[in-house]
Amino acid sequence: MSFLLRNRLTKRIVRPAATHVDRRVDKRVDKRMEQRVDRRVDQRVDQRAKPAVDALRTDLETLRREVAELRRHQYATSLLFDRTGRVNDRVPNAAEVDTLVREIAELTGEDSAYARRDVTVAFRNVVALEALGVGRLAGTTYNVCGKLAAVPLLAPPNEDVLEIGTLHGLFAATLTRMLHRAGLEARLTIVDPLAGSQLQPGAKQGAEPTGTPVRMDVVRANLALAGRAGAEARIQRGLSGDPEVRAAVSDRRYGVIVVDGDHSKEGVLADLEWVEEIIAPGGIVVVDDYGDKSWPGVQQAADQHLAGGASRLEMLGRAATSAFLRARA
Ligand SMILES: C[S@@+](CC[C@H](N)C(=O)[O-])C[C@H]1O[C@@H](n2cnc3c(N)ncnc32)[C@H](O)[C@@H]1O
Repeated sequence: MSFLLRNRLTKRIVRPAATHVDRRVDKRVDKRMEQRVDRRVDQRVDQRAKPAVDALRTDLETLRREVAELRRHQYATSLLFDRTGRVNDRVPNAAEVDTLVREIAELTGEDSAYARRDVTVAFRNVVALEALGVGRLAGTTYNVCGKLAAVPLLAPPNEDVLEIGTLHGLFAATLTRMLHRAGLEARLTIVDPLAGSQLQPGAKQGAEPTGTPVRMDVVRANLALAGRAGAEARIQRGLSGDPEVRAAVSDRRYGVIVVDGDHSKEGVLADLEWVEEIIAPGGIVVVDDYGDKSWPGVQQAADQHLAGGASRLEMLGRAATSAFLRARA
């Protein structure tokens, strides 16, 4: 516009306005140029990024499908392993298994590769027998697998096994399988009142949470899962403190005794005194629920029993919430 300003006066009056208009026109032209350049750059970038964006879209779609599939599997797995239909959640986490493997290796002096193998096999047996059996194994996966893995690795001196307190007989069946796997076909004896539900002094005799009665036929059905050793098991109904019960099963020296009946301090003390008489030299005694806060009497009794110095039993160590003792030769 400035070129239109010919004479001086006009120039003086109009120049500022013309300059202002020029600047605005320049700005608009600049802006348009900028936008055009931007658009072209965008187009070029779009073209270059397209394959990457397409690949991301495909990945996302695949991930969506995989997550949906995993959710389906996770649901099915939860039906097998978690609390659904049973009392204890059977899903262990990696840290729990690692801790247990360390404890078993330390307790048994075995290489941790063997400890891990046996903890893994124990876990599979627990899941398999609980799935096929009637009722449940008592206790956490951590503790149950600890007992099942440790006992065979501690190399019991003979095949005679006594379980004091069996509930549904599923632990006895699983231990029998674990021992068999290690080459020892158990001769099993079980003592339990089989009173319809679990008896525990000091605890209310409530209904069994699985709804499965604590009864001879149930225990027999579960022992049938443990082959000949299970089918031929001797089951003595009654309390371990009962002289008649003791007389009936004190006919041998046991290579393994699991103390898991009366969990009161007095009950465990009485059982350990009896154990002194019927354990074989080198035999293994499992004191279940040792260190479990729900059953303080168990640890109190075991510690008191061992503290006397007169015991044939010595503490080997712990795994999960069980203590393992060995009878001196
Ligand atoms: C904790 S459960 C046993 C669990 C089983 N050992 C397992 O690991 O699945 C305790 C069982 O011992 C029984 N019991 C209680 N007092 C007992 C005693 N003095 N002698 C034998 N069994 C007893 C209970 O009735 C119950 O069946």
